[in-house]
Amino acid sequence: MKPYIFLALFGCSWFSQGLAHSVDTRYEDATSIPRPYNDVAANPLPSEIKSLRPRLDLDTRAAAKAAIDAMNREYYSSAEAIWSRPDPWWLSGVALTSVIDYMRKTGSNDYMDQVNHIIQVQRNQYSQNGGDFRAESTDDTGWWALAMIRMYDLTANSTYLNISIADEAYMYKYWTSSPCGGGIYVDIKTKTYKNAIANELYIKLAASLHNRIANDTKYLSRAETAWSWFQRSGMIKSDNLISDGLASSSNGACYNNRLPVWTYNQGVILGALVELYRATSSETYLTSARAIADAVLSNDGTTSPQLTTNEGSGGGGILMEASCRPDELAGGCNHDQQVFKGVFAYNLAELDDAGAAVDGSRPYRAYLERNAQSAYVNARQPNTDLYDASWAAGPAFGNSTIGKQASAVGLLVAVF
Ligand SMILES: *[C@@H]1O[C@H](CO)[C@@H](O)[C@H](O)[C@H]1NC(C)=O
Ligand SMILES: *[C@@H]1O[C@H](CO)[C@@H](O)[C@H](O)[C@H]1NC(C)=O
Ligand SMILES: *[C@@H]1O[C@H](CO)[C@@H](O)[C@H](O)[C@H]1NC(C)=O
Ligand SMILES: *[C@@H]1O[C@H](CO)[C@@H](O)[C@H](O)[C@H]1NC(C)=O
Repeated sequence: MKPYIFLALFGCSWFSQGLAHSVDTRYEDATSIPRPYNDVAANPLPSEIKSLRPRLDLDTRAAAKAAIDAMNREYYSSAEAIWSRPDPWWLSGVALTSVIDYMRKTGSNDYMDQVNHIIQVQRNQYSQNGGDFRAESTDDTGWWALAMIRMYDLTANSTYLNISIADEAYMYKYWTSSPCGGGIYVDIKTKTYKNAIANELYIKLAASLHNRIANDTKYLSRAETAWSWFQRSGMIKSDNLISDGLASSSNGACYNNRLPVWTYNQGVILGALVELYRATSSETYLTSARAIADAVLSNDGTTSPQLTTNEGSGGGGILMEASCRPDELAGGCNHDQQVFKGVFAYNLAELDDAGAAVDGSRPYRAYLERNAQSAYVNARQPNTDLYDASWAAGPAFGNSTIGKQASAVGLLVAVF
């Protein structure tokens, strides 16, 4: 039995992120060199450089449906109303988000009974905290709360909006001005760690609430304050990539803890900034988001692990979870980490859609399509539609997990 089995239902998304790594106390500030937002034509993004590979004529909608059906067949338990119960609870929140998105994008009701059943049962977890996804860590609450926002978008039923309102209040209780000058703790019992994922999820949730509640000022103010803090916190390195979280000194000052650059931490913030852009029409949020996204697409590995392969031409190849040592192909990612790329992909698609709304550009479309095609060819087992972790060319399919499968579902649903 692997150790993650014992983390069971209560393992949260940051739990196993490698606290054993040594902490380097060098401070890096959050200085970034954002690309001017409307300078795209003069200075093409890596994502716009055409791949040399011939395009596969992939029906991404059909591939997404097949991957969801395989996820249900292989991992879903109707009795437990969850996918792969031994795995961390938050993975089902991520999977649920993509299944809801599939229905929203296709207008189909294919999974509505299942989705209703999952929500009805899972909202009763953590009844000691009042239920409705008020979990034992703020990030776990954030994943499910964002799924409830999607469910509200799909159904216009205010029950779901009200759940996410309760979840925001719950997460906000763990915002403190000291240490670090702000930020939300991820670990609600011990209150020792302010990390990127809990704060990114929080910003996205608060901004999403603002965009769905008439005349709101409270949530927008909180989202703006949290982003402004996040930008100054030290978590964003000078190469525009975001580390796992903050360490604090005895005087309450905090600094980048140098824990790994995970793809999901480069992802959720993109969706958060898109919601802030929708709330304010201020393009500075998209500029900040593009700086982070472009850093993922073009990082050459000199300042952080390289997150995109050099396949194709000039970078902008295929996304990889480079911090899974020795590499994701060798099974180095645990079940939490296996889903991170899918989270990045659907948030990148939200940024791409925002570009379409602003100036008609789809700066990340080619990258997302290339990843979907590559995952379909390289990670999928043809007769089962199950997916392995590595979307890039490499060893043939070996095995799947709920993390690997939900990751592929997140990518494929984001693309069509
Ligand atoms: C809204 O959702 C809740 C929870 O699933 C359900 O009980 C209720 O009947 C729904 N309301 C409507 C109007 O569909
Ligand atoms: C959600 O909350 C609002 C405001 O409190 C309330 O008017 C509405 O009835 C609630 N919706 C449901 C389904 O409980
Ligand atoms: C929002 O504000 C407008 C203008 O003041 C007002 O007409 C409207 O009733 C308000 N809506 C809500 C839901 O409070
Ligand atoms: C899954 O495949 C990886 C290589 O792709 C291998 O390292 C790992 O042991 C396999 N796990 C199982 C449970 O077969």
